[in-house]
Amino acid sequence: MKIVVSNKIQKMTGSIFQEVANRKREAQKRGIDVIDLSVGSPDFPPPSFVTETLAKYAADPTKYGYTLTGIPEFNEAVCYFYKNRYSVNLDPSSEVLQLMGSQDGLAHLATAFVNPGEVVLVPDPSYPIYEQNVTLAGGSVYPMPLLKENRFLPQFDDIPEDILQKTKMMIISYPGNPVTALADKEFFEKVVRFAKLHNILVVHDFAYSELIFDGNPQISFMSVPGAKEVGIEFNSLSKTFNMAGSRIGYVVGNSEALAVLGTLKGLIDYGVFYPIQKAAIAALTSDYSLLKKQVQEYEHRRDTLLAGLSKAGWHVAKSPATMFVWAKIPNGWKSRKFAFELIDRAGVAVVPGDAFGKLGEGYVRIALVQPAGRLREAAERIRQFLCLKKE
Ligand SMILES: Cc1ncc(COP(=O)(O)O)c(C=O)c1O
Repeated sequence: MKIVVSNKIQKMTGSIFQEVANRKREAQKRGIDVIDLSVGSPDFPPPSFVTETLAKYAADPTKYGYTLTGIPEFNEAVCYFYKNRYSVNLDPSSEVLQLMGSQDGLAHLATAFVNPGEVVLVPDPSYPIYEQNVTLAGGSVYPMPLLKENRFLPQFDDIPEDILQKTKMMIISYPGNPVTALADKEFFEKVVRFAKLHNILVVHDFAYSELIFDGNPQISFMSVPGAKEVGIEFNSLSKTFNMAGSRIGYVVGNSEALAVLGTLKGLIDYGVFYPIQKAAIAALTSDYSLLKKQVQEYEHRRDTLLAGLSKAGWHVAKSPATMFVWAKIPNGWKSRKFAFELIDRAGVAVVPGDAFGKLGEGYVRIALVQPAGRLREAAERIRQFLCLKKE
């Protein structure tokens, strides 16, 4: 039998990540020690009280049933976290929805809110599921360029009126992946005005809310007046508490929109494993001392890598946030060729920028997921590679 995939799946991208993984494996088979800076999975452990809580409840055989939804204590823990970290008040019964990781919610967004023919505004470049969830639902994507000269903020005045008439939803993320830029309060206020004017549901992805460097403010979209009327905000325990594999996340904000997503989830899954929910509650209601140390460690990694790359004559902009460096590549290279040669010849795996959209061409994304010593070594290998290329 011939397996024929649907047109929608055929349109999906994502293969670049697979290509990077395959190339890395081939290089390893040839005996190359590859420093893998491609995947954004934290190498730090979760706090010990999180693993202890998980282990305690996992040992209880009565906790293996379907949970169906988040337990009320989880929603309260999210409200506590949001109040403490971002000065945002949320109603635990209607303004919090638990997810199996924020990816779970992002993947189902357009299925919940968008009909074929309707438009979703998506940044270019951006995290691939923003576009993919729209493709899956049969909606249309209108890319919003994120350009350095505009501080990587979309320019709403550039969006044509006929597109706005068909627009149902807009996705933004500050700080984002791969573009690590931050937005200020004025920008979020503008988003609220724009969304009200055109009746657009705003989706803000705040997955890197706790990886913000150099004392920059951590601004939740929900902290802006009117945001709950027009939008929702995704957040995650994956990067904040290093729980990426124990799948749990959440979305907060507009209660009507959350109810729709909740209904859809009810059809798709049967809830997060109870011990993971309890571990997440322990994390969200902890004293947060880990978070400051973690930020310092990521800052140190970023600075170590950039100092090493500078020695190679490759001067890369400092990320103000996230676990990534979004690096403009040296002149004369294309992203894929540069990234693949780095794997093959320098033993350093990074992701070519075009994996995140057309405007990612000319960049690579480097994940700070190795200790500073390994990042120093990666920079040194890149230096040698670039020197050889010059000769
Ligand atoms: C911007 C962004 N949003 C969401 C996610 C999904 O995270 P999770 O599903 O683990 O919460 C990621 C993962 O890398 C991400 O980079």
